[in-house]
Amino acid sequence: MRLQRRVAIVTGGSSGIGRGIALELAREGAAVAVADIRETPKVGRYYETEPRRPTVEEIQGAGGRGIFLQGDIACEDFVQQLVARTVEEFGALDILVNNAGVHVPGTSQTLAVADWDRVLSINLRALFLTTRAAVPHLKQSSHGRIIHISSVNHRGGGAGPVYAPTKAAVVNLARDTAVELGPLGITVNAVCPGFIETANQDYLTPEQIEEGRQRTLLPRFGTPRDIARACVFLASDDGSWITGSALVVDGGWMATV
Ligand SMILES: NC(=O)c1ccc[n+]([C@@H]2O[C@H](COP(=O)([O-])OP(=O)(O)OC[C@H]3O[C@@H](n4cnc5c(N)ncnc54)[C@H](O)[C@@H]3O)[C@@H](O)[C@H]2O)c1
Repeated sequence: MRLQRRVAIVTGGSSGIGRGIALELAREGAAVAVADIRETPKVGRYYETEPRRPTVEEIQGAGGRGIFLQGDIACEDFVQQLVARTVEEFGALDILVNNAGVHVPGTSQTLAVADWDRVLSINLRALFLTTRAAVPHLKQSSHGRIIHISSVNHRGGGAGPVYAPTKAAVVNLARDTAVELGPLGITVNAVCPGFIETANQDYLTPEQIEEGRQRTLLPRFGTPRDIARACVFLASDDGSWITGSALVVDGGWMATV
């Protein structure tokens, strides 16, 4: 086990990629606080179509340690409680995974301004809030790690007027915080997934899914576990000298651009 005695927070850890990350971190020995607006995993129409046990139940069922904290990650009070409760429960904080993110389809003409603001606050502002609250504890760890989940959409357009800009900003937020926290020994990186099979894909049409298939060089789409293993790597001792980087995990999506 590569993360024994480490304590992690995973935002958006009830479903999809975040659930995969929480399960893998726990499997590697970490105690995991799962933060989400809902406890029950989302059920999708294309992927993750079967109801599943809540993440923390799954972790505990496998003999691991976990707690669930329900709230909106874009809310500063919730973020403060999340960090405080995690440290109270497990005695420390070593790993922060900022995974929660939303995509609202639309164009410059159709996306409501309120939706633009909401996506910005969940996909970007919340990462600042969690980082701000976590750093005083991460400073005390000799394995301090911050991992932001960005996207292949951090480069190039095509994912709408708010999603793509937030994912680009997340990569640069990781770089900026890496500059700030490097002297403290805390690493900060972004992971950029390609097409991952989660309920988040429900907004796509079958034709758009087929386009995604054609852009993915490897013969399958990604799974939450593919992203989770990259996070385990960055969180483990093997990732201790990697900071300020954006690790693309995309089955080859970006190889041709
Ligand atoms: N699925 C993909 O192909 C893909 C590709 C690139 C990047 N991503 C990114 O990966 C992350 C996870 O995506 P996913 O596909 O697993 O999505 P998902 O919708 O399956 O899961 C997201 C989870 O985040 C939670 N969440 C949403 N808003 C929240 C909030 N305000 N506070 C707390 N929790 C909240 C949801 O309840 C859900 O459990 C997102 O940041 C997404 O942008 C996904």
